[in-house]
Amino acid sequence: AAFRDSPRPAIGFKPVPVASDPGYDRVDVPEGYTARPFFSWGDPVESGAPEWRPDAQNTWTEQALQSGQNHDGMHFFPFPDAPNERGLLVINHEYINATIHPDGPTVTEDEQGRRVRPLNEVRKEQAGHGLSIIELRKDPRGDWQRVYPSRYNRRLTAYTPMTLSGPCAGAEAMKTADDPQGREVLGTLNNCSMGVTPWGTYLIAEENWKNYFVNRDAADHARRREHHRYGIAAGLNSHYNYWESADPRFDATPRAEQPHGGHVNEPNRFGWVVEVDPFDPDSRPVKRTAFGRIVREGCTCVQHPDGILAFYSGDDTRGEYVYKFVPEGRFDADNPKANRDLLDKGTVYVAVYHEDGTGEWRPLVWGAPGLTETDGFRDQADVLINLRSAADAVGATPMDRPEWTAVNPFTRDGYVTLTNNTDRGVDPNEPVDAANPRPENHHGQILRWREDNRHPAATAFHWELFLLAGEQPPTDESWQTDHQYGTIKGDIFASPDGLWFDPEGRLWIQTDFSDGKSVYDAMGTNQMLCADPVTREVRCFLTGPSGCEITGITATPDGTAMWINVQHPGISYPASDGKTRPRSTTVLITKNDGGVIGT
Ligand code: FEO
Ligand code: CA
Ligand code: CA
Ligand code: CA
Repeated sequence: AAFRDSPRPAIGFKPVPVASDPGYDRVDVPEGYTARPFFSWGDPVESGAPEWRPDAQNTWTEQALQSGQNHDGMHFFPFPDAPNERGLLVINHEYINATIHPDGPTVTEDEQGRRVRPLNEVRKEQAGHGLSIIELRKDPRGDWQRVYPSRYNRRLTAYTPMTLSGPCAGAEAMKTADDPQGREVLGTLNNCSMGVTPWGTYLIAEENWKNYFVNRDAADHARRREHHRYGIAAGLNSHYNYWESADPRFDATPRAEQPHGGHVNEPNRFGWVVEVDPFDPDSRPVKRTAFGRIVREGCTCVQHPDGILAFYSGDDTRGEYVYKFVPEGRFDADNPKANRDLLDKGTVYVAVYHEDGTGEWRPLVWGAPGLTETDGFRDQADVLINLRSAADAVGATPMDRPEWTAVNPFTRDGYVTLTNNTDRGVDPNEPVDAANPRPENHHGQILRWREDNRHPAATAFHWELFLLAGEQPPTDESWQTDHQYGTIKGDIFASPDGLWFDPEGRLWIQTDFSDGKSVYDAMGTNQMLCADPVTREVRCFLTGPSGCEITGITATPDGTAMWINVQHPGISYPASDGKTRPRSTTVLITKNDGGVIGT
């Protein structure tokens, strides 16, 4: 009966069929619903921003005032006096595409074979990262519109100053030639999924930051777990964009002649949870180091009535782990100021999934067995900066790429998408196990757990697989050993990524697979589906344009307006004219009768 005691949500729409035409260039939603492109790459955000130029000739200083690219996690923050009529939409811009430049990026090579980029292009790419905060209002006709200009409209980029706080602030490993105090970082990178605090702030999760740095000293790279354990490049260039050629901050090769080794510690300043107050446009974002440093997909809060909180996060790389952070203090709704630094003190745990359906959260606390000075950890800051190594030391379970987490608002059950992992059962460190049961897993699974006593601070839990994604197995038992059948009741999908419970308990699932790869032929383009957590029935609600992933989801408190993101569409969306440059876009979804989305 565990997991089945939540109320059944109303799910009443007629499912949308898969879109299997490779030229599919629009968003489809069920009969009785409307999907409208709402906010696209290049749209003006800050005052004085020029309009987007379809030839991508906007300069980097213009890009810094306009929407970034690759919209991802987001959240609608209602104004308390008009929660369903006015709000702030906060949107992550995960990374950039070649479309940001008129003819793609300019890359040359120097005499040593290192790739070199022009500074103006690098700056434009940095300005295309980060976050947009935009004000929205319902107009007198009941249609949602942007408010422009607005004092709340704001861009954060890969060079916006941010404060470091918590146990690692000021630590030796956080100091650089540019920041000898180790307390201020420029920018945030690869903001994927996100979280929201009960006190109304937004939590950015920093995901694939490792791809922006290079350490060209191979011996140092091999010694330095802060670099190699996270996959920072050791060759001639960083994995993405080669910013190091124009902006030395991204060259993490140690420089003995410079203070604090130059920028060797710069990568240590990414991979955190960044807290942003959208209602205070003058506030500085704060990187909260108590959460630990991982390739962080998201950060979902669960709150107990006693005021204890936990935040769940996946580390999205093959064979990495699921974490939670439990702040030491309790949330106090009556004293908002007391919550301001709640995220600076607490305990990080990593998940272990036993074969019998029980699980444990193992604390990553300096001095515990495996995490002492003899084990190579100097102090708690060292544990947090090297959180993956600490989790290795306590025997965490390697997972199939943990992406988003979600919490059932009625039961506090946690859910995580394990998107896929073609190394499973192939890499000797990632044998098939109960939580990750399929070798060469192309389709992924969703796992759920219940904390003991349903308490966020529990150190033990029960878990089960909610579903295995993939095609329906054939009824004639003509099973192919290399095929990846699923256990979905209803509409099939692959590679679950975005995951969110709406306030009425519907579970929304968003997909991110490479449409066009033959293993995904049956799934068409990427989708958003709606699941009943009690019966596990799944229905397709939305299909996206070819080449995109669907990610990011939020709604007004009354559920009558929903926003989702079409990330990196492949053809010409949202113009959908077959020729205009495609743009990542936030899409507004409403029900034509004004009802709650999904009913
Ligand atoms: Fe940015 Fe794990 O997706
Ligand atoms: Ca994702
Ligand atoms: Ca993904
Ligand atoms: Ca993505």
